[in-house]
Amino acid sequence: MRKWLLAAAAAAILAAPVMVPVSASADPMIIKFSHVVAPNTPKGQAALKFKELAEKYLPGKVTVEVYPNSQLFGDAKEMEALALGDVQFIATSLSKFGKYTHKTEVFDLPFMFKDMEAVDRFEQGKVGQSLLHAMENRNYLGLAYWHNGLSQMSANKPLIKPEDAKGLKFRIQQSDIIAASYAAVDANVQKLAFSEVYQALQVGTVNAQENTWSNIYSKKFYEVQSDFTESNGRVIDYMVLVNAKWWNGLPKDIQAGLSKAMKEATAVNNQIAEKLNADAKKKIMDSGKVKIHELTPAQHAAWVKAMHPVWAKFTDKIGKDIVDAAVASNNPKTN
Ligand code: LMR
Repeated sequence: MRKWLLAAAAAAILAAPVMVPVSASADPMIIKFSHVVAPNTPKGQAALKFKELAEKYLPGKVTVEVYPNSQLFGDAKEMEALALGDVQFIATSLSKFGKYTHKTEVFDLPFMFKDMEAVDRFEQGKVGQSLLHAMENRNYLGLAYWHNGLSQMSANKPLIKPEDAKGLKFRIQQSDIIAASYAAVDANVQKLAFSEVYQALQVGTVNAQENTWSNIYSKKFYEVQSDFTESNGRVIDYMVLVNAKWWNGLPKDIQAGLSKAMKEATAVNNQIAEKLNADAKKKIMDSGKVKIHELTPAQHAAWVKAMHPVWAKFTDKIGKDIVDAAVASNNPKTN
């Protein structure tokens, strides 16, 4: 009697699944971070810092794979890839959300922000923080803003007066406001992905562009343009985006660790962005390959005046409260 009972018990134990604690056996969660610029840029460095911190705070639980230079997804694909779960983090230029929301187009209004301190006051303020949720109805959640800098124009001739832009063809980001800005000075535009800009300038598809010094240097636009103008015409900053459903479905410890890493990587980004752009400008000057034209206050004011009518065309679409908050951020006393 006892023998068959023992045999049955032994058989039951052998048939039971071996329960190994998840933490001991699960492979790390792979988190892909895709972006379109070079590693030696504010966004490139911030993404690597996020990787370092996320793997530090969640050892063995996550592995962050950073894909710079449009290696994984470029301009045209990164938002769709995030929606499909083919990538988990992107940090997209604020000028590329026009087909999802008009609210973030405030960043594209020409000469809206006088310096990066004003940009930071706006982004960290109540209205700016609310814009992180502007696309949540489309399942895109903004976790943070990352700085790059203000954009500088270039062509193969000096751009000193607004009239100098007449008839040129500027490469621009996917933004109707940027297009309207150049139409206001009788220039043409072509919307192109960032990865296509160098070749388009080289072969003459376009003959002018605007971007930050760090993007101009890291992508060597100074090899295919002769004259740069320090116009500071528009901010090029980023929103770090995740798929809202994916983010909200994360285990709490993973979400907390990623949030901590994001917060600290954002602080690092905002500390290094200005210096990386200043260093890039100096390297371009030291290359001896181009002329850099610094505008006098009167020359700068002429560009502001020529492009300002664009504001009236788009304020209602963006939202007057948002535009007013951005204007107010230029006052250092604005909290
Ligand atoms: C551009 O397309 O010019 C920029 O958005 C590239 C970038 O992400 O800085």
